Amino acid sequence: MTVPRIRSMKRGTGADPIVMVTAYDCPGAAAADAAGVDIVLVGDSLGMVVLGHEDTLQVSIEEMAHHVRAVSRARPKALVVADLPWMTYHLGAKDAVRNAATLVRAGAQAVKLEGGRRRVAVIKALVGAEIPVMGHLGLTPQSINAMGGFKVQARHPGAAEELGEDARALEDAGCFSIVLEGIPDVVAAAVTDSIGIPTIGIGAGAHCDGQVLVYHDLLGMTAGDSPKFVRKYADLRQVAVDALKAFCSDVREGRFPTSDESYHGSN
Ligand code: KIV
Repeated sequence: MTVPRIRSMKRGTGADPIVMVTAYDCPGAAAADAAGVDIVLVGDSLGMVVLGHEDTLQVSIEEMAHHVRAVSRARPKALVVADLPWMTYHLGAKDAVRNAATLVRAGAQAVKLEGGRRRVAVIKALVGAEIPVMGHLGLTPQSINAMGGFKVQARHPGAAEELGEDARALEDAGCFSIVLEGIPDVVAAAVTDSIGIPTIGIGAGAHCDGQVLVYHDLLGMTAGDSPKFVRKYADLRQVAVDALKAFCSDVREGRFPTSDESYHGSN
């Protein structure tokens, strides 16, 4: 999968919807690739899903690079996109290009960053350095403090219009696609129809050019309630707990290991 191919996958042109899933390690990326996803996103959701933080703001460029390297060792056919974490592209274009290069050298083929018109200069600098950029609008988790929590965005006509302006600015700046997160479906549909690059939705309804979910959410690996846009395709947390309980009782009751599971003098 390539950036130009994703760029061309507007649904109106007869293209299949884009399928993107997050992955943070080699086995996860290998599973997503075996399933045939188009894009593996090494998201900064890493901070919450894998590293146990309350938000994504704690994730560093070194942590991202570490996980991008693990994902890229799976040699996925899917496009590998990596999130630029908070504060790695806010201090100027030079800093952003240097940080994005770290992710590219770790194995990313493109980077994703959050925000609208105020990111135009940085996006142009990245594109100028031959680093493809995916935008991210709506409920942008790196803005959690400014938004006052993980809240659906663009519910009011003025905010929806602003979001549309942001999307057009990101397209003009050179983004090859845009994630739309946590916005009403009608707003996502209007934005999708108003730009020439694909939108990839998460909690943004059915009319986007593609959909993305977090690996651990869709496989049911996380405890507690999920937002309503998450469809759980498996309950792997329960599968894991049941298997681990069986291991605990087999060890405690002397059923593991058996003679067949042990090495002997001759075999
Ligand atoms: O970090 C992430 O996983 C993301 C997706 C939710 C789009 O940005």
